[in-house]
Amino acid sequence: MFLSPRWIALLCAALITTITVVFISFVPQTSADIMFVGGISCFISSFFFIYYVIDTLVFREVNKIYTTIKKLKIQDFDIAKKTIIKSINPLSKLNREIYNYVSKKQEEINELKKMETFRREFLADVSHELKTPIFAAQGFVHTLMDGAIEDPDVAQRFLKKAAKSLDGLDILVRDLVVLTQVESGDLKMHLALINLIEIVNEIFEQLETKAKKRGTKLSLKPKSLEKVLVLADPQRISQVLINLIENAIKYGKENGKVQVAITEEDKKVWVSIEDDGPGIPQDQLPRIFERFYRVDKSRSRETGGTGLGLAIVKHILNAHDSSISVSSKIDKGTRFTFHLAKAPKEIA
Ligand SMILES: Nc1ncnc2c1ncn2[C@@H]1O[C@H](COP(=O)(O)OP(=O)(O)OP(=O)(O)O)[C@@H](O)[C@H]1O
Ligand SMILES: [Mg+2]
Repeated sequence: MFLSPRWIALLCAALITTITVVFISFVPQTSADIMFVGGISCFISSFFFIYYVIDTLVFREVNKIYTTIKKLKIQDFDIAKKTIIKSINPLSKLNREIYNYVSKKQEEINELKKMETFRREFLADVSHELKTPIFAAQGFVHTLMDGAIEDPDVAQRFLKKAAKSLDGLDILVRDLVVLTQVESGDLKMHLALINLIEIVNEIFEQLETKAKKRGTKLSLKPKSLEKVLVLADPQRISQVLINLIENAIKYGKENGKVQVAITEEDKKVWVSIEDDGPGIPQDQLPRIFERFYRVDKSRSRETGGTGLGLAIVKHILNAHDSSISVSSKIDKGTRFTFHLAKAPKEIA
């Protein structure tokens, strides 16, 4: 209120009038009447003049700019209503609005820059990952065309290798599609009541050959459990468990152990997958959920890994209002843990 045009004009007019009256009083033979009339006319004229100048030329113009900024802001985000109501002085309102607007824009610019870098890196990663199997298959086919096809043994071997590379390419593209879908929220989770024990046992059967090849012993704890009902998308949760158990077999030690432990709570069911393998260095733990990130690049490639598995796992669990955590000790093993919503008691 104090800084409204009216008050400013009033104060200035009072100041000018005081100075004028003081000056007039120095003129010889000046009567009190002249000083009064001079003072009043000086006060009225300077008040209206200053009021007009401030209101028309400054405040209204500033208000117009302020309104424009406000309109611009409304299109983008919520206005900080409180800050607008509190202040009447348009100059400080304008200042605050410009500050809010610019800082919000800066945030958006930073976010866009981050996304741009992320997109660039992702594209570079995808091209790199696609190049490897394509070049391999291309090499085998060209060698066959250049004459290797004449020798049936060599031809058979090269065709097998080309087919393996193309299979890898197929897996990579499929994983990429799933990852893009879960990340963009396009892949809807079809929640249903599922028996976790049944799913884990099915996956153990599915991965039996792989586990046998490495001499890995798969087990479920506690053994006595037969039925644990959770609310989850059966296909997606199987995908999560397959990747985690497969990783534990692939990256765990030979002739080692992989244990899936299930712990029931009131509303949650905790699932952990633990191996007794070489573990993951502490500094790399937060990065293993990034796309294409592999701790031991050569070992992972050798086993046909694309480095997308854990990124997919993370997104699927997020879509289940859950998250995944990992703990690992070098030469002791690695444990991945997540939780799922337990089926309501009346249903279970
Ligand atoms: N149980 C584990 N023990 C040690 N290292 C692991 C374990 N699980 C994952 N890792 C490391 O984390 C990396 C990322 O795993 P992720 O499942 O995302 O990819 P991948 O297994 O290489 O490929 P994909 O799962 O797509 O076939 C692996 O390459 C491996 O280096
Ligand atoms: Mg994996």
